[in-house]
Amino acid sequence: MSKPRVLVTRNIFPEDIDRIKDIAEVDLWSEELPPSREILLEKSKGISGILCLITDDIDKELMDNAGTKLKVISQIAVGYNNIDIAEATRRGIPVGYTPDVLTHTTADFAFALLMATARLIVPGYNAVKDGLWKTWHPLHFLGQDVYGSTLGIVGMGRIGFEMARRSIGFNMNVIYYDTNRRKDLEDEVRMKYVSFDELLEISDFVSIHVDLNPITKNMFNEDQFNKMKESSVIINAARGPIIDNMALYRALKDNKIYGAGLDVTDPEPIPSNHPLLTLDNCLIVPHIASASVATRKAMSKLATTNLINGLMDRPLSTCVNQEVNG
Ligand code: DGY
Repeated sequence: MSKPRVLVTRNIFPEDIDRIKDIAEVDLWSEELPPSREILLEKSKGISGILCLITDDIDKELMDNAGTKLKVISQIAVGYNNIDIAEATRRGIPVGYTPDVLTHTTADFAFALLMATARLIVPGYNAVKDGLWKTWHPLHFLGQDVYGSTLGIVGMGRIGFEMARRSIGFNMNVIYYDTNRRKDLEDEVRMKYVSFDELLEISDFVSIHVDLNPITKNMFNEDQFNKMKESSVIINAARGPIIDNMALYRALKDNKIYGAGLDVTDPEPIPSNHPLLTLDNCLIVPHIASASVATRKAMSKLATTNLINGLMDRPLSTCVNQEVNG
């Protein structure tokens, strides 16, 4: 019997490619940049499975194009806003994703962004590197204190909760907003549920941990920045389009808020001539919150296991649309 054909849209760890090769014929896109839409459509014709990334649009057109053999979509990420889940479910195709294995690494990074933005670590380093460090000065590089401040977490999922736990050592007062109140978690870190507006008004740090969907798109725009404190810092390690970039630019430029630390932008990559990159109070890194050796290995392994299970008609270990995870 011939092996099923699968498309892997970027290099993952070699041991995982070998595992897939044991049971399938692998078409591996090994370029650094994502396949173009045309190439993705061309290569997905007749495949039984796809291991994809957040940079690949897995929509109805692609599923139509793949045809009836397609039995599993395995995403190497916890977020899946690039996949038409309703369409996959309608076709009975399970969609795998990689929750849990990246939670701590991502929360660590969001907290690192918070610290770096509040305490001007990158502007300080740049000044040293550029020979601008002339003397110790009482009024230079004045950041915002983290210890004892108020952390407002938007989205109390796995990563939001771990962010709250990291704040304990800094004696932070934690408040959170989510469409679902998480009373079960509140005592563990002594955090208080508040309205979105209240959170914006009283937080020193606002950290975003919601997923991107039609409701959270542009959840932060001019109105929200106007409600925040002038000394506040916003952190986004979720998805870029949750913030209206140009509204953020104006808020930072006019000092309506103190700073922003962004792991994600809209678009990605952000063009090097984007206005946000002209600001000293905006720290942007290239969507690397989950990028540690161990975590990326764990993500690669889990996404591979999901792909293999789907190809072998077994339930995926971590599936977005459980209702079709037979
Ligand atoms: C995810 O997993 O959704 C991240 O954004 C990439 O690690």
